[in-house]
Amino acid sequence: MEKVSLGHILSAKGKRKLVMLTAYDALFAKLFDPYTDILLVGDSLNMVFAGAQDTLSATMDQMIYHTQAVCRGAQRSFIVFDMPYGSYTDPSTALANGLRVYKETRADSVKLEGGAEKAEVIATLVENGIAVMGHIGLMPQHVRGEGGYRIKRDRERVVEDALAVEEAGAFSLVLEGVQADIAAAVTEELKIPVIGIGAGRDVDGQVLVWTDMLGFFTEFKPKFVRRYLEGAQLVDGALRRYVEDVRSGRFPSEKESY
Ligand code: KIV
Repeated sequence: MEKVSLGHILSAKGKRKLVMLTAYDALFAKLFDPYTDILLVGDSLNMVFAGAQDTLSATMDQMIYHTQAVCRGAQRSFIVFDMPYGSYTDPSTALANGLRVYKETRADSVKLEGGAEKAEVIATLVENGIAVMGHIGLMPQHVRGEGGYRIKRDRERVVEDALAVEEAGAFSLVLEGVQADIAAAVTEELKIPVIGIGAGRDVDGQVLVWTDMLGFFTEFKPKFVRRYLEGAQLVDGALRRYVEDVRSGRFPSEKESY
């Protein structure tokens, strides 16, 4: 299996849709890896696995630990490290943390949230040999500052930010929670691949949080999520059978005993 390179991702633009999914550990990374182009170790792990209300308390140490695990599980997919809140406030902080990512993990790139205001940070990372995926539109790390998760409908602002991220040297861009026609316009305008989440279909690829996609996270379902499995229901059914078997003495059987 050939490893997905930066070149593969760049050359996908306008030719084939990129498939990206989050992964947070080696076990699931190994299951997803044969099918995905890109695995994102998203700071969404802070909500999904650590049970926090938002992504803001994720730390570099946590993200590094999970990325090391994902890199052990995945052999093929291009791996993206999501820079946690506060780890790229200015170019020198971003560079120190970006270098740490490359030195301590096998991640292929980092991702960070922000448009024109982060252009200098992106350029500094890129100048130092660190591949950067941008992320604009709805930025989950802004949830407290903006008082909620807000779909972006300001065409001029989104296009301006997308161009600034590309100009700064990012190799691709995640566009989250953006009106579909604006996302289509950005995709048309940019030379780099645009990967959407809640941004309609006229983009260069899609990303979903895997626990949403496989129906393990059931507290709420955003409009843009399509569930390909009812994971939580399947787990519930299996657990009920296990409990019945243990309580009734049907487990373990003779075959399952030494
Ligand atoms: O952290 C994450 O999972 C993300 C995706 C929503 C793109 O940033």
